[in-house]
Amino acid sequence: MKLSKIVVWDYLKEYKTNKKNILKIVNKVFKSGQLILSNEVENFEKNFAKYVKSKYAVGVNSGTDALQIALMSIGVKRNDEVITVSNTAVPTISAIVSCGAKPVYVDINEKDYLINFSLIERKITKKTKAIVPVNLYGQSANYKEINKIAKKYNLKVIEDCAQSSGALHHGKPSGSFGDLSAFSFYPTKNLGGYGDGGMIVTNNKNFYLKCKKLRKYGMNKLYYSNFHGVNSRLDEIHAAILNYKLHKLDSNIEKRRKIANIYNDNLKGTDLILPSENKENYHSFYVYVVRHKRRNEIMNYLRKNNIYCNISYPFPVHSMRAYKYLNKKKIILKNTERLSKQIFSLPMYPELSNKNLEKVIKILKKY
Ligand SMILES: Cc1ncc(COP(=O)(O)O)c(C=O)c1O
Repeated sequence: MKLSKIVVWDYLKEYKTNKKNILKIVNKVFKSGQLILSNEVENFEKNFAKYVKSKYAVGVNSGTDALQIALMSIGVKRNDEVITVSNTAVPTISAIVSCGAKPVYVDINEKDYLINFSLIERKITKKTKAIVPVNLYGQSANYKEINKIAKKYNLKVIEDCAQSSGALHHGKPSGSFGDLSAFSFYPTKNLGGYGDGGMIVTNNKNFYLKCKKLRKYGMNKLYYSNFHGVNSRLDEIHAAILNYKLHKLDSNIEKRRKIANIYNDNLKGTDLILPSENKENYHSFYVYVVRHKRRNEIMNYLRKNNIYCNISYPFPVHSMRAYKYLNKKKIILKNTERLSKQIFSLPMYPELSNKNLEKVIKILKKY
C-alpha cells in the first residue's frame, strides 16, 4: 500500500476551500485596469495597519524588502551597525548588509530561541543605529526590555515580524512595539499569498512617507527621484487576495494553536524538548519547533515513514560563507550554535488533518 506523504507545510487544501473566492478576486483585479500600487494596495494597507493597531502601513514586494526599506528609512547606511540574531532566516541579515551596514550578533535564549536582551547593551558602539529583534517561530521578543535599551542609547527598533503576523505580546499585536515593523507574506507565512509580498508598519508619519518613496526609487512624483530608493511594489492581485485572507488570520492561528496543544499534550512524556510560550505572548505557531540531540536520526526515521520535517535554521547566518567576512574576530554564540544542531519543525499548518497529526505523534512516540 502506498503511504501518503505528510509534509511540513501545504497550501493546496486551503486553496481548494477558497478557490471560488480567490478566482473571483483575481478576475475583479484583472478587469479593473489597475495592476500595481492602486486601490487594492491602499485598501489592504489600511486594513493591515488597523489589524496591527498602527497608524500606517506600506505594501512592498517581500519581507526582505520590508526590512531593508525600514532600515533605509531610519538612515542606516555604510559602516553603521545593527544588532540582531544569527538564528534567523538569511533575509534578516541580507537586508542589513544591503544597506551597507554590519550585523552585530547577540545570542538567543535557550528556552524560547529569541534574542537575549541582557546581552544587547555590551554590543552597542558609536556606530550602532538600530536593533532588529526577530519574533522567531511566531512569538515576540521582550520589547519591554529591548525598547528600554533602545531609548537609553537613542537607537531605533525594527521588529522582524516575518514569522509573527497574528501573534500578540502583552495583549497587543506583534508589530506594534518597534519604531517600524516588517512583515512577510511569503506563501508559508501565517498570512501568506500565492507569491512574494511584504509590509512595513509604523506609527511615525515621517518614516511612513519615507518608506512610500523608498519603495518607488525615492520618487514622490513621476519620473523624478529625490533620493536613491528601490523597486519594491506590492501588486494589486496580491493585495486583494491578502486582504481577503486577513479576515481568516485569527481563526487560522486558533487552528495552529490547537494543533500545537495536541502536540504538547501528546509529546510531553517524550524526551523531545517542546516549544515554550512566554507568559506575555500569544504564540502564533508559524512553526512548531522541537529539539533533540539526535535530531538527524529522528528526522530520518520520520522520513522513512513518509513524514517530512524542516529545520529553521540549520546554519546560523554568521557562520555562512556569504557573511563570515564581515567579522574580523571569531564570533561565539553558544546557544545559537548548539541549538541549530538540535532543532527541527514538525508539520504545522491550519489544514493539517487530525489523522496526519495523530500519525506524526504515533511515529515519534514509536521512535
Ligand atoms: C525571520 C524572517 N525574516 C525575513 C524574512 C523575509 O521574508 P520574505 O521571504 O518575504 O522576503 C523571512 C521569510 O523568509 C523570515 O522568516
